[in-house]
Amino acid sequence: MGARVEVSHLNIVAQAGGKDLPLVTDVSFRIEPGEVLALIGESGSGKTTIALSLMGYARQGCRISGGTIRVGDVDVLGLSAGEQRSLRGRTVSYIAQSAAASFNPSRTIMDQVVESAYIHGLMPREQAEAKAVALFRDLALPNPQTIGQRYPHQVSGGQLQRLMAAMALICDPALVILDEPTTALDVTTQIEVLQAFRRVVRERNTTAVYVTHDLAVVAQMADRILVLRQGRQQEQAETRQIIESPQHDYTKSLIAAAKPAPRDAGRLVPDAAATPLLEVRSLVAGYGALDTRGLPSSPVLSDVSFTLHRGQALGVIGESGSGKTTLARAIAGLVAPAAARFCLTARRWRPMCRGAAATSCGACKSCSRWPIPR
Ligand SMILES: Nc1ncnc2c1ncn2[C@@H]1O[C@H](COP(=O)(O)OP(=O)(O)O)[C@@H](O)[C@H]1O
Ligand SMILES: [Mg+2]
Repeated sequence: MGARVEVSHLNIVAQAGGKDLPLVTDVSFRIEPGEVLALIGESGSGKTTIALSLMGYARQGCRISGGTIRVGDVDVLGLSAGEQRSLRGRTVSYIAQSAAASFNPSRTIMDQVVESAYIHGLMPREQAEAKAVALFRDLALPNPQTIGQRYPHQVSGGQLQRLMAAMALICDPALVILDEPTTALDVTTQIEVLQAFRRVVRERNTTAVYVTHDLAVVAQMADRILVLRQGRQQEQAETRQIIESPQHDYTKSLIAAAKPAPRDAGRLVPDAAATPLLEVRSLVAGYGALDTRGLPSSPVLSDVSFTLHRGQALGVIGESGSGKTTLARAIAGLVAPAAARFCLTARRWRPMCRGAAATSCGACKSCSRWPIPR
């Protein structure tokens, strides 16, 4: 069950050259048990600084200089250093942006997920492992019985981020802090991981602070939003209210930035008569040896075609592994296409690939065509 969190008049400073520079100024908020509060604001606005202070922690060179923080009945800033250490991971736990940087690469995942449970003397290892497996299942991880035996490099980024959530939830914390936990993931994986986080936080009725700069994420996760700028709170209200009718100019600009309008629509529609700058036709590319039909053993791109006019920008989007980089590499000549017709009209151009010779298509002077006609 989540705790009520009350932060009043929080001040945090950085110590520089004998002077105190304010990082967080007079921030106050309250989170009801089981509620998710989002801290949003641009990079450097103080989100992480506040999030860490909820565990009584300030980064090196920084100091919590005033205010009170209560998590349930605990006066966090009134605790001794030792008491604060036993609070961390047990009552308040933290999920960081990069799970890869937070896991020790030389130990198995299970070892690390269950560690805090028995360090805090909450349960024997066997029980902690059973609980970890249940969490892996709740977080929709594949092979929940055995995934813990792997090392961090043997799972994907999205899986490691969810395994970190299991590590944070193993002691049933009263408050969990998620500090941009999906920022490093691609969009599709982000949605999957976010759904898993939302489900476990809701099912356990855990109070949560969700740190992000992404309003789309906030809309899915948070009950309430606190908007920060330069360490000062701008406004706080229910998620819907902030997104539908932001009061503060800064919040309005954040929301406007989250809904980008197409850039100068006039430039996106090319002059039909103009010669395209780059034409790619029926590109097939991949990795590995070519089979008898001349196709790569690990195909990545099949039949990709597009035309690009001078001054246009083409966005290539797709989930991790969909072939974005391979497309760019094929155009740059770093991957030999199995089949394609490239045409770059503005200047003589021919992607040079080791192992793949190109010939002119005959229709213009500057294109290259695969496969080579026999
Ligand atoms: N160890 C530190 N010493 C001094 N200043 C710091 C330290 N860590 C962060 N800061 C400063 O604190 C401010 C807030 O940083 P941070 O809380 O990390 O922002 P956010 O998480 O919103 O991106 C920034 O101006 C940053 O440069
Ligand atoms: Mg941060």
